[in-house]
Amino acid sequence: KMEKIWLFIGIGTLILFLAIVGVNAFYMGNKPPSCIATINPDRVSSTPPFNHPGVKQIGKNHYQVTVVASAFSFDPGDIKIPLGAKVDFVAATKDVVHGFEIAKTDVNFMIEPGYISTYSTTFKKPGEYLLLCNEYCGTGHQLMATKLEVV
Ligand code: CUA
Repeated sequence: KMEKIWLFIGIGTLILFLAIVGVNAFYMGNKPPSCIATINPDRVSSTPPFNHPGVKQIGKNHYQVTVVASAFSFDPGDIKIPLGAKVDFVAATKDVVHGFEIAKTDVNFMIEPGYISTYSTTFKKPGEYLLLCNEYCGTGHQLMATKLEVV
């Protein structure tokens, strides 16, 4: 008799847990806040703005940095941005999930296949920063990094 009660509680807990996860995932659209717009990963290279990766001035002291991630590099390979400007990062991946972390800053988000990730920040200190991938994406993952210069 007791076994049956425990089994019931166990299964009940499991069902409750799965229900919560399910509701979170499907009904509340529980996705990282940066992932709103969608994109076909196979067409990243031909879809604006990703067909021209790089830094572009879009307003007074306001820049957009378009980045294409693929195993195992970021395009463009070198990014130069002005000190104190508002910078909007816009990133997409051509293949798997990659990370987008700029060491020693608040910039840290995921780039998921099918989604356009965006993040805005302002660099307050000049210097060389390291943009790196912090999601394991394959055999070359540890090589996936590039330089970012704030001048
Ligand atoms: Cu890209 Cu790890």
